[in-house]
Amino acid sequence: MEKAQAYIRVQELRDIITEANRMYYVENSPTLSDYEFDILLKELEALEKEFPELVTEDSPTRKVGSDLKDSDKKKEFEQYPHRYPMLSLGNTYDISEVQSFADRAAKGIGNSFTYSCELKFDGTAICLTYRNGKLFRALTRGDGTVGDDVTANVRNISNIPQELKVPAGFIPTLIDPMPWPDEFEIRGEIYMPWSAFDRLNEERVRDEEQPFANPRNAASGSLKLIDSSLVANRGLECTLYHMLGEDLNFQTHDQALKAAASWGLPISDKRKICRSIEEIEDFISFWDTDRKTLPFATDGIVIKINELPYQEELGYTAKFPRWAVAYKFKAEQALTRLLSIDYQVGRTGAVTPVANLEPVQLSGTVVKRASLHNADQMQILDIHIGDYVYVEKGGEIIPKITGVELSQRGSDVTMPEFPEYCPDCGTRLIRDEQEAKSFCPNQSGCPTQIKGRLVHFLSRKAMNVIAGDATIEQMYNKALVWNPADFYELQKEHLLTLEGWKEKSAERFLKSIEDSKNVPFERVLYALGIRYVGETTAKAVAKAFGNIDAIIKATEEELLNIDDVGQVIAESIYGFFRDEINLETVDRLKAAGLKFETDTKDEKVSDVLNGKTIVISGNFSVSRDEIKALIVSHGGKNSGSISSRTSFLLAGEKPGPEKIKKAESIGTPIISEEEFRKMIE
Ligand code: IVH
Repeated sequence: MEKAQAYIRVQELRDIITEANRMYYVENSPTLSDYEFDILLKELEALEKEFPELVTEDSPTRKVGSDLKDSDKKKEFEQYPHRYPMLSLGNTYDISEVQSFADRAAKGIGNSFTYSCELKFDGTAICLTYRNGKLFRALTRGDGTVGDDVTANVRNISNIPQELKVPAGFIPTLIDPMPWPDEFEIRGEIYMPWSAFDRLNEERVRDEEQPFANPRNAASGSLKLIDSSLVANRGLECTLYHMLGEDLNFQTHDQALKAAASWGLPISDKRKICRSIEEIEDFISFWDTDRKTLPFATDGIVIKINELPYQEELGYTAKFPRWAVAYKFKAEQALTRLLSIDYQVGRTGAVTPVANLEPVQLSGTVVKRASLHNADQMQILDIHIGDYVYVEKGGEIIPKITGVELSQRGSDVTMPEFPEYCPDCGTRLIRDEQEAKSFCPNQSGCPTQIKGRLVHFLSRKAMNVIAGDATIEQMYNKALVWNPADFYELQKEHLLTLEGWKEKSAERFLKSIEDSKNVPFERVLYALGIRYVGETTAKAVAKAFGNIDAIIKATEEELLNIDDVGQVIAESIYGFFRDEINLETVDRLKAAGLKFETDTKDEKVSDVLNGKTIVISGNFSVSRDEIKALIVSHGGKNSGSISSRTSFLLAGEKPGPEKIKKAESIGTPIISEEEFRKMIE
């Protein structure tokens, strides 16, 4: 490669890797699989090796990914410097590189060393400091130099002791009155076992929140919760694997961990001291299979030189210790047959190919459908209907197809054809090169897009009108609604023309439509369905501008000034309000009486709930957010977990059984929505 070309690629790789690091460590919402990420990083490393003049101090090859929020954003945690830098581990997917690691080590320290082989826990790194036997501080890795202080949250993780215990048989002396040093650090991983992860995601789906992509993200998101009392409910666990300090008198890493275990610290027993590469390989291949039976996620094996003086001799690079390496397992895969491909049109017009598969078991669930992303991806995979394909669970919730097993291709396979025309309305599709996606441009005429927008408009987090997809479909088919504003012009006699509708159902629907006029502006803005504008962005934009006219008038630069709004979102908002139909919709909705400005008046309605801490659970007649707003507007406080301080549990339909059990066990009163409404009447 020419230097000029390398320069461009290096810049490109740094941008991609930096953004992927941010999505992974800060947003907890990975955009690349570990494997894809590692391949890009290795490509950057290779280019920097070939063209050393392109190396910069801040290249992602030289620093660890940071979990700290951008410095210009509001800090949520106190930050403290790490006493010893908190580094990452060199990793490989190739067993021969483990051999090279051992050879390199042997060159430096001879042949009389052993290896400590351990599971690589797939969680988020933590550094605990114990002073005089008590937990003093817990810091996240941060950027490796400075970490976020999450001590309050860590105190709610049940297997982390607040105080160390003296092991049986310990004999104090004048020099060593206690078994542990006055101060030491111990590092490890906070992780979320599968059972807690499944439970949390079920709850999030029920509450219409985005589920976490994997237990690692769930653990890291939970560790950074602002309300530390919520952490206790998340089922987090900790395992510790590296002790550091000034006056530790251990000869080996293994001795240090054994001592820590005897003081009551959580240390994994799935470790082995190995004496040869063969023993390491056996350990790796054992866990590559047996990891499927573990109650938590592990993504590899860490191999460390066990003798501490040798560790010291080998030292560190800017990013890794030279005394340890991680062998990473490839993501779990399943092989199954591709039966057919559906081309789905979404609310925004994007056409996504979705594979229908012969059902197959993968990481605990049965997979029947998988994403193929776009036409490019199908071409790269050279996928044919009838092929045997590999499916993997990547960063996203829906599994994806990662490869085709060509050796099993039969003679009856057929080439899939990506449609040129919208499968729904027949309009010629256009391709967005930037996103490598095909779109149906017929926004105002494509039935799926229209219905999708109507469903989104009425949904719970938007206008919260009681109407299922089938109702909206019925109304659309009878040509009663086409534009969201049409809902506000519906009369009872229109509704009575719908099959199965009676006076009562029509009245209930109209009442719900009427109630929606009180929905706050930020949710109306979200309901409009502007591409890329989710709830959080809508909230930020509504707050920043105060009313719809200011947003309509805003320039792209003004939109870009808002936190959370990047180029793509700014362009999308700007473009949305340049479309005549959208402007007309806003005018009609305004005329119907929807809120198009933020409430400035004091939202406090009464003091009846003053001093009360209320936990809610289950489904209510309105959204949970509205119930929370009601609590606050009447002077109460909403909390996520039940404790002795909870005044009562407000239980809707199908409340969480855990919450009910906890409330009953500590005598917290449980009240229904009806009783609650009487209270605040
Ligand atoms: S030792 C100087 N041991 O994996 C770094 N790390 O991808 C010493 N990890 O940053 C780390 N399990 O957060 C070590 N048994 C284990 C581990 C482990 C998971 C994490 C750790 C590290 C990351 C690197």
